[in-house]
Amino acid sequence: MNNNVLEKKQYYTEKYRPQYHFSPERQWMNDPNGMVYYNGEYHLFYQYHPNGTTWGPMHWGHAVTKDLVHWEHLPIGLAPDEHGTIFSGSAVVDWNDTSGFFEGKSGLVAIFTHADTYPDSDRPRQRQSLAFSKDNGRTWVKYEGNPVLQEEGITDFRDPKVFWHRETNQWIMVLAAGQTVRIYTSKNLLSWEFTSEFGEEHGSHQGVWECPDLFELPIDSNSNQKKWVLLVSIGNDPIYEEGSRTQYFIGDFDGKTFFNHHDPEKTLWIDHGRDNYAGVSWSDVPSEDGRRIYIGWMSNWRYANVTPTKEWRSAMTIPRVLELKTTEEGIRLVQNPVCELQGLRDEKIVIENEVVVPGKNLLANVKGNTFEIIAQFEIGTATEFGFKVCKGANEETIIGFNVENQTFFVDRTNSGEADFHEDFAGKHECELIPENNKITVHVFVDQSSIELFGNDGKSVITDLIFPNQENKQIELYVKNGEVKLNSLELFTLKSVWR
Ligand code: FRU
Repeated sequence: MNNNVLEKKQYYTEKYRPQYHFSPERQWMNDPNGMVYYNGEYHLFYQYHPNGTTWGPMHWGHAVTKDLVHWEHLPIGLAPDEHGTIFSGSAVVDWNDTSGFFEGKSGLVAIFTHADTYPDSDRPRQRQSLAFSKDNGRTWVKYEGNPVLQEEGITDFRDPKVFWHRETNQWIMVLAAGQTVRIYTSKNLLSWEFTSEFGEEHGSHQGVWECPDLFELPIDSNSNQKKWVLLVSIGNDPIYEEGSRTQYFIGDFDGKTFFNHHDPEKTLWIDHGRDNYAGVSWSDVPSEDGRRIYIGWMSNWRYANVTPTKEWRSAMTIPRVLELKTTEEGIRLVQNPVCELQGLRDEKIVIENEVVVPGKNLLANVKGNTFEIIAQFEIGTATEFGFKVCKGANEETIIGFNVENQTFFVDRTNSGEADFHEDFAGKHECELIPENNKITVHVFVDQSSIELFGNDGKSVITDLIFPNQENKQIELYVKNGEVKLNSLELFTLKSVWR
């Protein structure tokens, strides 16, 4: 065997290495950045520390995918310069050359935060800057007029997400500022005008606000009825056990101001697990496609720097489609895996119309730690049922439904390595209301992560786990009674890296 074949065989096979999630080849990664679709490629930049496996001087790492599943790693997109390191931000296609960077053609513009400190002081300084690319994102030139936006009075001032607002014919920037979101407008991406601020006394303030995103979505796929969604991630504050997480607001936006349609005290969470943070959506997905596609960083600032991987640290969630749906509680954001992931399906196991009873594991013959399950249950006499995955003699991760409380949960208390941080082990749950006495469950397991979508993406839990890689048993379990399994499909999933 020549070296190349050998290398390929061993590529992405380290302990805990995700097989179909995006993770950097080496070193540290956090937030997704600069997500933009252009000339047949989805670009993914990411907060990257090329010299270590913990957070450090930030660069933008870079990868592209044509199908949201298979990734090509590219050289670092943006590196620190005289204005500082490169924090989170976004990228857009400047179709009409409003910036003047592209001699009348179109090209990519990245809008990001330059982070340094004020002269002769330790006080952090965060300012917004631009870079542009004329070659499909392969090389970038920093704008000579950087930075393009600064506010001396605001210390936490970062993570610009920019989009073109057709109705008012201008660029909009949403930016995190302390514990609010500030909105700026521009005709050319170069000069920005402040228009409004949102957030005081709205939603959760259990941490600094970061990584906003703002976009419009149809309600129940009806393009005559639309609402705007504002995503806001909130940072880790040691007082709150959840660590960093992402909330969202639903409302209206008129090109200047965001109006929240919910009671300001209401907090809506995008995910009820611990490991989905700083997620934002792709810009410029063609209108024939029309999807709002999202990816989050699959970790939590509470313990992100100490998770037990060696060569690299952190992965992204699978790409998900965001939609607004009317539910019993009102309009909610739902998330589902992109359909492109179906291309990874390998072996298939089907079970139909079976009654699950205690002590009889219908999946006793199935093994794996890289798979997908789609199941529908009809509530019976059982008080709890679900799956135990990545199970071995002493470890298991439980994905269950508690019938009485109508809660869906991931219990990683005994899932494997957990002693790297005292807040890691635990059970994370959310409400899941049966519809016609049924619940549907869509689960993705990939070596060291669980992504759980209940009732077509209405309830979502994303959690990291660090099980022994030999623990490949899967159990369908039930407690104190029976449950009817209307249907189950289990697919083993192929690696996207080899
Ligand atoms: C969110 C965040 C951003 C910041 C980046 C720095 O995880 O704190 O606010 O731009 O990470 O890496």
